[in-house]
Amino acid sequence: MKVYFIGAGPGAPDLITVRGARILERVTTVLYAGSLVPREVLCHCRADAEMIDTACLDLDQQEACYRRAQAAGVDVARLHSGDPAIYGATAEQMRRLEKLGIDYEVVPGVSSFTAAAASLGSELTKPSVSQTVILTRVSGRASAVPERERLAELARAGATLCVFLSGPHLKRIVGELSPHYPPDTPVALVYRASWPDERSHRSTLGRVLREIRLRDWRLTTLLLVGGALSRQPALESRLYAPDYPHIFRSARKRANHAQRRAGDASAPNDAAGRRVSSGRSPRRAAGPLRSATANSPALLASGATAPEKSATGRRKRKVTDD
Ligand SMILES: C[S@@+](CC[C@H](N)C(=O)[O-])C[C@H]1O[C@@H](n2cnc3c(N)ncnc32)[C@H](O)[C@@H]1O
Repeated sequence: MKVYFIGAGPGAPDLITVRGARILERVTTVLYAGSLVPREVLCHCRADAEMIDTACLDLDQQEACYRRAQAAGVDVARLHSGDPAIYGATAEQMRRLEKLGIDYEVVPGVSSFTAAAASLGSELTKPSVSQTVILTRVSGRASAVPERERLAELARAGATLCVFLSGPHLKRIVGELSPHYPPDTPVALVYRASWPDERSHRSTLGRVLREIRLRDWRLTTLLLVGGALSRQPALESRLYAPDYPHIFRSARKRANHAQRRAGDASAPNDAAGRRVSSGRSPRRAAGPLRSATANSPALLASGATAPEKSATGRRKRKVTDD
């Protein structure tokens, strides 16, 4: 018998992972946080599954459900909104399961902060603006936030802030942030990202409270704050710059580009008559991917800078994710 903590995603039934949905198709006992997980997500469950809404159960009562399933020898799916690792109150359930000798596994989910960014069409990290995303909340009735994590402290970094559970506290949050961010700092409110009644509002820290009715944003709302939300063009990342080489792509120089185009023109067609081209230089395209290492002749010939030599005289490979 096993309990699966499954990230249900932000609300849209097709934003649960394939792994999560497959478990739901199989298990006969499902516990779900009904206040945040819409019933539509339960479409992945078996028609004969027992569905238990945990919104009205305390921890002891939830433990009783786990005990019953243990006695019956059946697996349980425990659905949490977004990703279970964030404000999911999963840690205390896991401790209880450990005491009962019940095995568990976590299946991650799409968190609401990424769904909110998607709904806004925003990237939360932009070069020279912010490369850090802080996920936080303010103290509420259920959980206090440690003093050192007060918004005023976090704001000092000027990072992109995603403030969860912020709906009932918008006035307080804007008040706490205002001394630390300029009034024209972009903010966005997103209510029920990915639900059919999703809403969002873009504004600035200085204006937002004048533009909204607080009661419209009390529940299931995320507040995002930071310069990265601006729709003004920002400095571009070097990642896709044509002259920026890295382990998976050589720098594009004029001659090299012309050579590749010539290579593409002579590339063979596949069975459907499409030209077979990898977009890499012909030499690299011909070989397996491992040939495209930082010190491969193909890469160096393409105009990439030669890797530095180490103290032993060997070339150091620059193997990074960016
Ligand atoms: C208890 S927390 C759960 C967070 C969840 N584990 C996650 O990863 O998104 C609930 C808060 O998450 C945010 N939230 C959850 N789903 C949301 C959605 N679809 N749209 C906007 N905010 C959402 C709201 O701030 C809400 O008050």
